[in-house]
Parts: sequence; structure tokens; C-alpha cells
Amino acid sequence: MKEKGSHTGFSSKAGVVLAAAGSAVGLGNIWKFPYEAGENGGGAFLIVYLLCVLLFGMPLLTTEFLIGRKSRKTTFSAFREISGSNRWQWMGWWSAVTIYILMGFYFVVTGWCFNYLYEALFNLYAGMDSAELLTHFAANMSDTPRMIVCSLVPVFLTAAVLWRGVNQGIERLSKILMPLLLVMMIVMAGRVLMLDGSNTGMRFLFEIDFSRITPTVFMKAAGQCFFSLSIGLGLLITYGSYMPDSQNVTMTSLQVVVLDTLVALLAGVIIFPAVFAFGFDPAEGPELVFVVLPAVLQNMSFAWFSGVLFFLLLCIAAITSTISLMEVEVAALTEFSNGRINRRRSVLITTAVTSLLVVVFILSMTGRCPSLRLFGRDLFELADGLVTTFMMPLGALSMSLFAGWFMPSKSIEIIPRSRSRFKRWLRPVFVFLLRWVVPLAILFIFLNGLGVL
Ligand code: ALA
Repeated sequence: MKEKGSHTGFSSKAGVVLAAAGSAVGLGNIWKFPYEAGENGGGAFLIVYLLCVLLFGMPLLTTEFLIGRKSRKTTFSAFREISGSNRWQWMGWWSAVTIYILMGFYFVVTGWCFNYLYEALFNLYAGMDSAELLTHFAANMSDTPRMIVCSLVPVFLTAAVLWRGVNQGIERLSKILMPLLLVMMIVMAGRVLMLDGSNTGMRFLFEIDFSRITPTVFMKAAGQCFFSLSIGLGLLITYGSYMPDSQNVTMTSLQVVVLDTLVALLAGVIIFPAVFAFGFDPAEGPELVFVVLPAVLQNMSFAWFSGVLFFLLLCIAAITSTISLMEVEVAALTEFSNGRINRRRSVLITTAVTSLLVVVFILSMTGRCPSLRLFGRDLFELADGLVTTFMMPLGALSMSLFAGWFMPSKSIEIIPRSRSRFKRWLRPVFVFLLRWVVPLAILFIFLNGLGVL
């Protein structure tokens, strides 16, 4: 598919899968998954996470793709287009606002990755022990000019890709970067598994202690599932609108889910054996990757190469996700202005707004502007919690209610019927999940988050 209305689409089926997988695979898999699993019981977290992926990941991902492809609109106006009513326009705004807030903190963490890539390249953390690495991380995080530069570099790199368009930019780059990422991760996992004592880490990740499965673990795993698969943002609606008509949507969703889960597992397989082999605490928190891994990597053979490889991996994964986040805003702005703002001007405006937001988040996080705090917390901390435990689940809830209850004749009907005996059961299962399982599970998450349960 080349042009459709104001849209330029993906040109190949593989391109769609890799671009959507690039959007899903990101910091969520390599940075967030290991520390969430580390804090929430390893195998216990993993099993609940996999359940969430099956129960709400798959149906919501498929629904987003279908809404996009059916409407051929960006997330901003797809709901209005399908429902034929302005009453659903708020979901377009909700998505635009959520994605801007998400980008604010996502680019900051991407900045940490670029900072560590630079440090790995020039051997700047070589020789530090774990306590020094912790202090070093904290010092980096409070260095405002450094953080601003490191976070704006990925903003401009993302803008450069978007400037080239959907086909020449996003699709081309995803076709190169995604396979590269997978190969690099497999090489890295192979190296880590050869370490003495790596078995303990593997047992931590794959052995399930059922007594550790609590409502909070469920809430964290569900939040991780939304974040990792980029669902509840409406992001994949925009990608769905670029999909060729002949693409099998269910199969595409399945491929994206499998790739995303595979990368999260590979990240766990790289990180936990290394953590245990060197006697670190798996519940280190968000610093896990940035503090433990430099320590671990410099004790391995080919230390310089391993460090550069790992942080390059993180940067690649982050960039393929920031591309999709920013693309939604760029496409929405062009559509909102009825084409008066062309794509390239839209890229410039979105880049300017995102850069401003990133700088504000950094000033708040580093304490340079103490007035940039809300409820006693900095904006970075607030945004992380707000987006993953509130805004994305609420987006997913609205999406499932829209598809399952309010627009069943339009949105659920677009889930293709199949004559094959194997696939015939899939549609009623999806409909049931969208109508009952997803909304009730999200309600449970909210009640638990509010402390009602
Ligand atoms: N899905 C993206 C990630 O996992 C946002 O990083």
C-alpha cells in the first residue's frame, strides 16, 4: 500500500510487523521488565505477566490495529470516524496527552542509555565498584546539562527518522534495527549463560513461587504488559492505519506479541544470571540495568566490547519505540490541521514541544527548578506512575468498552470471521475478553491501586 488519503503506508507485511515490534520492544523490555521482575518475585511475576499478555495484550493489540486499518485515520480521529459521533473524540485527545507525558519521561530514560553508551565507549566507568557505580549514577542523574544533552540527542535522532516519512524512515530503519537487536541479544545471552553461577539467575526467572503472587504483583505485571506492548495509548491505531488491506491482523498481533515477549525474556536471561553470578540484589530497582550491568560487564572478558554492545542495544530498542510515539503526534497534528500543517512542519512542531517537555522534566528531576514539583514529587517520578498505572490502563479500559459494548456492531464486527475450524473460535474468545475480562481486570487494578482491595 502506498498512499491512502492523507496517509502514506507501510509497503510490506514484514515491514509492518518489524515496525510494530520496534514500537513495542523498547525500554519496557530491557530496562523495566528485569527490574519489575526482580522486585516482584522473578518467576511469579513472569507467569502473571504472560497471563496478562494472553488475556489483554493480544485482544487489545488486535483491536487497535483493526480500528486503525478500518478507519484509515490516526489515533486522534479514528474513534470519531468509526463511531460516527463526536462523543468519542475525547479518546483522541486522551491518547495525544498521554503520549506526550509518556515521551517526557521516556526520552529522559533514553538519555540515560545514551549517557551510558558514551561512558562505555570512552571507558568512563571502568574500575568502579558497585558502591561507586551507585554514586556515579546519582551524580549523572543530577547533572542537568549532561542530562539535557543526552536526552535531546535521541529526540533529534527520532525527528530525523520521522522527517524521512513512514516508508523511507520508520519501515526501512525497523527492518535493519530489529533483526540486529535480536542477534545482539542472543549473542549477549550466550555469553552471560557461560558465567559460573548463572543457574541461580535462571532459576530466579523461571521457577515459580506461587506464594509470591499477590494483587500488587498482578497490578505491576498488568502495567508492564500495557507499557511493553504500547497498548492503551492508541499508538497501534496509527500503525494499523498504515497497514495494507491484505495483512492478516491477528497473525501480525501474534508475531508482535511473540517478539516483544521474546526480547523481555532475553533481557531477563541476560540480566539475572549476571546479577546472581556477581552477587548483586535483583531488587535493585530502576537503577538495576545502569548500576549492576556496568559492574558485571567490566568483569567479563571483552569488557569494553560487551559494555558498548549492551548500551547500544538499549539505545536501539529505545529509538524504535520513540519513533512510534512521536509518529502518533506528528500524524495527528497533520490530520487535525486538515493537511494545512504538512508532515515536515508537523515533525518540527512535535520536536519542539517534545524537547521543551523533556527539558522541563529534567529541570524538575535534577532539582534545578524546585518549583517544578507536584505533590512533593518531581515530574519524572509522577509521570511514570501516572502513565503506567492510570492513563494507559484507562485508555485500555475505554478501548475495550468502545469495542466490546458501545460500538460492537462496528468495532467487533471488524474482527474478521474465519471459515477455518481452527480460527473460528478465536473471534468469540476475543469478544468475550474485550467485553468482560479486560474491563473487569482493569477495574480490579484500579481498586487495588486505590487501596480498596
Ligand atoms: N512499548 C515501549 C517499550 O516497551 C513503550 O518501551
